[in-house]
Amino acid sequence: MVLLKQALIAAAACIASTAAVTIDVGASGGNATGYGQTRYGFLHEDINNSGDGGIYAELIRNRAFQYSRKYPVSLDAYRPINGAKLSIQMLDEPLSHALPASMRVRGHAGKGAVGFQNEGYWGMDVKRQTYTGSFWVRGHYEGSFTASLRSNLTDAVFGSTKIKSKSVAGEWVEHKYELVPKKDAPNSNNTLAITFDPAGTNSGHLDFNLISLFPPTFKNRRNGLRIDLAEALLEFNPSVIRFPGGNMLEGNTNRSYWDWKDSIGPLRYRPGFAGVWDYQQTHGLGLVEYLEWAEDFDCEFVVAVYAGLSLNGDITPRSDLQPFIDDALNEIEFIRGPADSPWGARRAELGHPEPFKLEYVEVGNEDWLAGGLKGWDTYRKYRFPLFQKAIQAAYPDIEVLYSGATTDGFPQTHSFPQDAIGDYHPYREPDWLVREYNRFDNETLRHIVGEVAAVHVNGGIRWEGDLYDFPWWIGTVGEAISMIGYERNADRVLGTFFAPVLRNMNRWQWSITLIQFAADPELTTRSTSWYIWSMFARHPITETLPVSSEAGFGPVYYGAGRDSTRDRALVWKGAVYNTTNNADVPIKVAFEGVEAGTKAQLSMATQPDADPWAYNDPFTGVNVVDVTRRVVTANAEGAFEFVMPELSVAVLDTDVGDGGGKRRRELPGKPPGFRPVQ
Ligand SMILES: *[C@@H]1O[C@H](CO)[C@@H](O)[C@H](O)[C@H]1NC(C)=O
Ligand SMILES: *[C@@H]1O[C@H](CO)[C@@H](O)[C@H](O)[C@H]1NC(C)=O
Ligand SMILES: *[C@@H]1O[C@H](CO)[C@@H](O)[C@H](O)[C@H]1NC(C)=O
Ligand SMILES: *[C@@H]1O[C@H](CO)[C@@H](O)[C@H](O)[C@H]1NC(C)=O
Ligand SMILES: *[C@@H]1O[C@H](CO)[C@@H](O)[C@H](O)[C@H]1NC(C)=O
Ligand SMILES: *[C@@H]1O[C@H](CO)[C@@H](O)[C@H](O)[C@H]1NC(C)=O
Ligand SMILES: *[C@@H]1O[C@H](CO)[C@@H](O)[C@H](O)[C@H]1NC(C)=O
Repeated sequence: MVLLKQALIAAAACIASTAAVTIDVGASGGNATGYGQTRYGFLHEDINNSGDGGIYAELIRNRAFQYSRKYPVSLDAYRPINGAKLSIQMLDEPLSHALPASMRVRGHAGKGAVGFQNEGYWGMDVKRQTYTGSFWVRGHYEGSFTASLRSNLTDAVFGSTKIKSKSVAGEWVEHKYELVPKKDAPNSNNTLAITFDPAGTNSGHLDFNLISLFPPTFKNRRNGLRIDLAEALLEFNPSVIRFPGGNMLEGNTNRSYWDWKDSIGPLRYRPGFAGVWDYQQTHGLGLVEYLEWAEDFDCEFVVAVYAGLSLNGDITPRSDLQPFIDDALNEIEFIRGPADSPWGARRAELGHPEPFKLEYVEVGNEDWLAGGLKGWDTYRKYRFPLFQKAIQAAYPDIEVLYSGATTDGFPQTHSFPQDAIGDYHPYREPDWLVREYNRFDNETLRHIVGEVAAVHVNGGIRWEGDLYDFPWWIGTVGEAISMIGYERNADRVLGTFFAPVLRNMNRWQWSITLIQFAADPELTTRSTSWYIWSMFARHPITETLPVSSEAGFGPVYYGAGRDSTRDRALVWKGAVYNTTNNADVPIKVAFEGVEAGTKAQLSMATQPDADPWAYNDPFTGVNVVDVTRRVVTANAEGAFEFVMPELSVAVLDTDVGDGGGKRRRELPGKPPGFRPVQ
């Protein structure tokens, strides 16, 4: 069906098309890519419940009553059962210094079981699978607890289990259990309930804290990731991850930045984090969880270290900077130091004796933005240079990233040290991303594109206007064209990161992400951009090749390269934007040295309704992107010929075998959570 359509497009081409565009690709004269293979990935930070309530699989919201100066302690997400009285207590003997608040549940003997239920992060997915639960209790109790997964709409109980009390007076005791529901819940409007019989207590009440419930997690990690979201991310084939931010790293003030030390170790010693996206965070998705995420994804990673600037403009003076530099060095040692180094030993103690492979450390985040001129000035004058010097002295093989680019923030361009790598963050309109296809052509310094996405519609007002509803087709094609530009300069553009990557449909502000989700996995949706980023990530190169065409650039944008890890596969990537009268464009790609009859795989992404505004809406589940793959054969002159419609993206790759490069993973037939195009 789809092939037929392509054929029709090809047949119609002689009437409706512009002149053919011939692109010659030279066999030599290119440049090795700066980071091995070209790398695509994402930035993850816990923006609006994309971590807590998102990829971090914990189902209980407000599990440990964490709070901060900014976010007061509360009983959010809890409701009493059978007239129980719930209250926050600050006990003299808390569960830990990190978790000073706990919940007291008081009932009346003789009136049956009392307790509480937790609504989770706007519901909970309940299926016939093993849930791993735990909670800490303080107070004498003879009897048992009942944990059950229930509907929040009806009286239905999908599964429950009894947990014999080990609880004693004057001590915090952990209770662990497993729960396998007897049936799947019909929707995600469910709660976890925990009840006990107050008759078995001395005082009619018990104190609870760190109430946790995990479904099965990605790769069965304890304290791990939500499976469907991790899989949707993995399937786009990322090869690099940037964390822990983003603005999250900087924190609201310099008393509440993302301190990596608070994010490691047993959960009961993690105080949580005064998030920068309007909610208290658990720190459950901590540094080790991020590192293991990268490890499980077989991804390289970029870690950002706090560099003395917070979002309110707090700046650390030069005289007070050294402790922060030492802290960054400790963090690096924690990540990659040998198990017998002081911080490497701590990592080993936490279950990971093998050092992680850390090669890229970013100093701060967007230091040109918070704190205005002073933030930027102090970064350039002393904050960046002092961090860079210290990191390079201790770890000569680590590449140090500078948190701005040569054109960020201010109208004039500026520079940073030759041995650093800049970080460019273009959040743009589609037209702007297209016009920037040559952004790096004359750039002499190396950069990553640490955050990029089409976010505003063409002709809109840049930051004053709203973001568009979802990633949308013309925006996605705009991204593809900038990405082609980055790839053409892949000796100096080392990696490209979508940001932010996950959007919780129950609580969001930033609407442009690769994947949308909610408590209900049915709503997990790959955006239009996911399909294109996935296509690019599946066809990496290790070397650029020179391209030339009499047509120049526009409406066809293109770049080419070779991948030495895939039997020197030749790769061409192209996109079409703004053709005259929306006409199709016949394309001829001639690789120097390729003979007639050579085969290549052509992947072509289009929007079948030719609707630039089309997007993938989780509530309809319709995928508006059509990706077709077919094998094409070089003609008598050794050129590959095909037709590209307006607003389309294509990748041609002479590696047609399924062995492929190590970064290639199989495309899922039909991504779960997607209903077919109607
Ligand atoms: C659960 O039910 C309560 C009471 O009807 C309601 O206030 C709450 O919003 C519901 N929670 C969810 C997640 O639907
Ligand atoms: C069930 O939960 C969904 C997702 O939170 C919500 O949109 C819906 O209103 C809820 N239904 C009811 C009947 O509460
Ligand atoms: C925190 O920021 C303030 C400026 O708001 C500054 O005076 C102080 O020195 C900073 N403290 C640290 C430890 O960086
Ligand atoms: C695309 O075409 C529109 C309408 O003619 C024009 O306003 C816009 O600048 C063009 N964009 C690019 C990137 O060429
Ligand atoms: C790069 O430099 C060349 C030669 O000076 C110039 O013609 C071209 O316009 C420049 N490109 C960009 C994107 O600045
Ligand atoms: C986070 O989401 C909430 C609810 O949609 C919204 O009110 C808030 O502005 C968002 N915060 C940010 C910083 O995006
Ligand atoms: C390789 O790098 C050189 C030096 O920067 C540049 O002149 C040349 O255009 C690059 N080749 C390709 C194919 O990008």
